Amino acid sequence: MAARMDVLLGAQWGDEGKGKVVDVIAPDYQVIARFQGGPNAGHTLLFEGRKHVLHTIPSGVFREGTINLVGNGVVIDPIIFLKEVKGLEAAGVDVRKALLISRRAHLIVPSHRALDAASEAEKGRAKIGSTLKGIGPTYMDKTGRNGLRVGDLERSDLMDRYNALVRKHERLLGMHDHVFDRREAEAEWLDAVQELRRMLLVDSEHYLDQVLRDGKRVLAEGAQGTLLDIDFGTYPFVTSSNTISAGASTGLGVAPNRIGRITGIFKAYCTRVGSGPFPTELDDATGEHLRQAGHEFGSTTGRARRCGWLDLPALHYAVMINGITDLAMMKADVLNGMDTVRICTGYRVNGQVTDRMPYDITSDVEPIYEELEGWGELHHEAPLPASLERYMARIEQAVGVPITLVSLGPDRAQTVLRQAATVR
Ligand code: IMP
Repeated sequence: MAARMDVLLGAQWGDEGKGKVVDVIAPDYQVIARFQGGPNAGHTLLFEGRKHVLHTIPSGVFREGTINLVGNGVVIDPIIFLKEVKGLEAAGVDVRKALLISRRAHLIVPSHRALDAASEAEKGRAKIGSTLKGIGPTYMDKTGRNGLRVGDLERSDLMDRYNALVRKHERLLGMHDHVFDRREAEAEWLDAVQELRRMLLVDSEHYLDQVLRDGKRVLAEGAQGTLLDIDFGTYPFVTSSNTISAGASTGLGVAPNRIGRITGIFKAYCTRVGSGPFPTELDDATGEHLRQAGHEFGSTTGRARRCGWLDLPALHYAVMINGITDLAMMKADVLNGMDTVRICTGYRVNGQVTDRMPYDITSDVEPIYEELEGWGELHHEAPLPASLERYMARIEQAVGVPITLVSLGPDRAQTVLRQAATVR
């Protein structure tokens, strides 16, 4: 019988811990497929005392027998991609034999990175806080129909296409008064694309169609988070792809009616890296405590993440937009030992109370909090404390879907499955 594709994605502003959850549930799937984003992502996995950060490669690489697919919706920087492959090989992971790359995926070229830097510099105080990996300019070339794709590596006119693209970028960079020496990174990029060309390139939409017809299980792995979605995030402080579940269809070529479970990952609190509105942000000692206890520093850029309380209207919005069927709550242990914890249940916008995400969440949005009893230490082998169960019940009641997985620490083993969770 044909199988469905499940989706796992971030329900907040990214960094929710998707890498760990994919790794934990990977044994249930034969194929793990990334559907959007690129090396702006940093999926951290910790097991057997070792930390691994993945940027473009799906998080199933550490599970023997799992196929990892980089879908058409992803943008690939060949230099970073090769470094990632070689880093994994050095760690003893035989990546190449189980790594498939869509011919339709777009390529990041060095001048895309220069354009990203020029655009941010010009925005000044209004900058997005981009990871500067060239993500925005690459998606601009994709939608502007100028982009280079992985499949172009097999064409004889690759260099003509590459040169035409770089010439266009040079004209744009000239307008920004941005100095760009194309020779600097070009040699490394050209070497990397030669190696990329020899990897397993596929027509991934046909591959996935067959895999699903054969009854094999596929998991689509999102990057970033719902509130960074180009359409439904806190625009313009967003990334340049569709991070939501619909993005799994367009980013892999799998029709919406073939999607099964949609798991939304969220932290027991909120973080955001880069600029943009964040109603529950804590600019005080509690925020600093969350940052230190949660090691909230970017895995791609090392930047300190902004921290705050859990935002239920935002989580509810993510459940609605994605059609989330179940939730995974991460980093509950970071709130350990607090007498009370707060949860945002609504906003006051221009004097009006609402529990809906407004079109524009600017500083005029004042969060309304509910205070709940905190909990002590958490041990995955013991029953969860009643106060943590009440915290989760309050979340489930507000957003209408069950929390089926709770993470109590970074290791694979620190995970509790709550299959029996009910929504009251
Ligand atoms: P870009 O996608 O690198 O251009 O960054 C756009 C915005 O998304 C910035 O605020 C970044 O900090 C944020 N962002 C991009 N990728 C991630 C991620 O993987 N986790 C969290 N935030 C991200």
